Amino acid sequence: MSENLAYALTQVAHNFGAAAVLGGAVFALWPVLRLEYGRSFAWLILIGWGAQIASGAVFGLTSFYYYGEMPDLSRVAMAALAVKVAAAIVGFLLAAFYLARGREWDRVRVKHTFQALAALAAAALTAAAFLRWFS
Ligand code: HEM
Repeated sequence: MSENLAYALTQVAHNFGAAAVLGGAVFALWPVLRLEYGRSFAWLILIGWGAQIASGAVFGLTSFYYYGEMPDLSRVAMAALAVKVAAAIVGFLLAAFYLARGREWDRVRVKHTFQALAALAAAALTAAAFLRWFS
């Protein structure tokens, strides 16, 4: 019971984080590039990636707490997890870099940054499906 609750509450943070990283990047770009809100979207995306890293780690800790070990993942699941972790770290750093330096960037560079953030989110969400069904 407490175990299911712990996983469910972690999943709540994880699901909203996933929505924020993809939704934030998509709405910064579509239907038009909204440069004037670029920093607001970037903050949302940064917090989203941070939430993914934190809640992903809590998933691991919860398994460790209840089972004393990490789940025995298949090779496909392991690769999918690696894609997620890499996407989360790169996405977090890219959003932070834009927030630190982006004021000096031209329109094209900002657009490419949000396109890269959207691609990272799509890669992580795709990997999430493989992690779920191959573990
Ligand atoms: C440090 C990075 C991450 C770790 C350690 C991590 C870990 C996990 C774990 C352990 C699960 C539960 C898997 C299962 O039910 O078998 C999960 C589910 C999920 N993760 Fe992540 N995750 C990370 C990053 C991300 C990112 C960046 C996204 C999306 C942008 C994401 C999206 C999802 C989704 C949608 C699920 C639910 C999958 C389903 O049940 O169908 N995760 N994650």
